[in-house]
Amino acid sequence: MNNMPRWFNDAIFYQVYPQSFCDGNGDGVGDFVGLISKLDYIKQTGFNALWINPCFDSPFKDAGYDVRNYFKIAPRYGTEEDARKLFEEAHKRGMRVLLDLVPGHTSDKCRWFVQSAKPYRNRYSDRYIWTNSGWARPEGYNWVTGNADRDGTYMLNFFLNQPALNYGFNKINDPSWQISYKDKRVKPTLRAMMKVMRFWLDRGADGFRVDMADSLVKNDPDKSATASLWRKVRRMLDAHYPEAVIVSEWCNAPVAINKARFHGDFLLHHGDKLTDHAFYKRDEAGKSVAYFCKTAHASAHDMLRRYVEELQATRNNGYICVISGNHDVVRLSEFLDESERRLAFVFLLTLPGAPFVYYGDEIGMRYIPQRSKEGGFHRTGSRTPMQWNDELPNCGFSSAPASKLYLDVDRRPDAPCAERQMKDASSLWSLVRELALLRHSRVDLQAESDFAVEECSDDGVLCYRRGERTFVLFNPTDQERESTVLVGKKLFELGSATSNNGATLLAPQTAVIFEK
Ligand code: NOJ
Repeated sequence: MNNMPRWFNDAIFYQVYPQSFCDGNGDGVGDFVGLISKLDYIKQTGFNALWINPCFDSPFKDAGYDVRNYFKIAPRYGTEEDARKLFEEAHKRGMRVLLDLVPGHTSDKCRWFVQSAKPYRNRYSDRYIWTNSGWARPEGYNWVTGNADRDGTYMLNFFLNQPALNYGFNKINDPSWQISYKDKRVKPTLRAMMKVMRFWLDRGADGFRVDMADSLVKNDPDKSATASLWRKVRRMLDAHYPEAVIVSEWCNAPVAINKARFHGDFLLHHGDKLTDHAFYKRDEAGKSVAYFCKTAHASAHDMLRRYVEELQATRNNGYICVISGNHDVVRLSEFLDESERRLAFVFLLTLPGAPFVYYGDEIGMRYIPQRSKEGGFHRTGSRTPMQWNDELPNCGFSSAPASKLYLDVDRRPDAPCAERQMKDASSLWSLVRELALLRHSRVDLQAESDFAVEECSDDGVLCYRRGERTFVLFNPTDQERESTVLVGKKLFELGSATSNNGATLLAPQTAVIFEK
């Protein structure tokens, strides 16, 4: 694949929400020292790459997606020295680390914004999107007025405290305040963001997950102007950091990968996307119709249609990255029971592209509905501390008094925990590890190898080939099924698959990986 860092082909990512992962200094909030102490766990589970949610200085009105200073680690996580140490310790173990880059907006407490809001011209006046009257409320975006001395309203990119950085407009409706994305007045914004990237790459980061990557240029319906900016970033990386990787939160692989030149694009849970059909989809009565729900008896047809199209469209340019979940969605365990999630992990870890597993999903952590924290709202229930062991009150997450924890751990007696599952060969953790190790050991199962559907029946049977000789066959239903594909040398089996007389009998909830 063109200019693709080799390590990315065999990367299996683990997403770490730093405030909830491991507290190294006993203040109740996860941090870098804690994370470093758990690198061996991550590696042992089979992950060789990390994505860490935002860790820069922030007022945390949106869990760090409101950056105040891109060049400073948030003190609650540690220092720049700790970040360097994290990169170094990860590299020693053959692991890579992506940071989270938020290029579309900052916190309203960012120095750039504070300057931009001043009523006199200065070098940051055009860094954000302002109208030229404090009374203006143009259509199409959200605007704030009355919050600054400057005579203008400013555009928001997300929450109230996240003003949109100014990369200019593609289609200009009102030239009195909209600036073209080609205008030299907005060029410093991209330059500033590239400076941030270089700063952290120089300190050892291996790349970035890019937040709302499609949101840069406004009035850009086909995203051609936004894509042109990312191509500049990619040129800079190819020239100076050829080992670095950028993965976009865009969820439109043909645009993000082919046009904007991201190395990878996340496939999120949005409607009609693969993960929606695979894990989440419900009918109007609220009943699951997801492919991996054993009683749904769904065909894989709808799940794969768009995915295969997008895979073909992006084939030589980058990876579609499928996720087990993330900090923005309700945990997978709410949608699929453990027997179903086992099959879902076989799927996730045998697809092309780079898979991402959200921390705790490998042990089946639960969604815990609760009051919003740091702009989490319903997402907060998916952001609770990692369950390291079953010692109450903090389950190994922190030595702080339980009342000080960032969020409460899952205290229910049957809560999952890593320590117990690591000792149990039949646990979900052991299954995830086995699959991850199998993937590392077989090029066929890695990112760039071919993906071809061999069988996709109306009654739920699915078989695909990876690479030259590796096949994955599923019966996710609670009933026996027959497949026309004959199973060769088994490399992994869940349930049972028996080939006889030209057909294969699949026990309920079977997944088998084999070689032919
Ligand atoms: C997407 C992030 O994943 C989410 O957590 C955040 O709130 C928004 N972007 C705004 O940055």
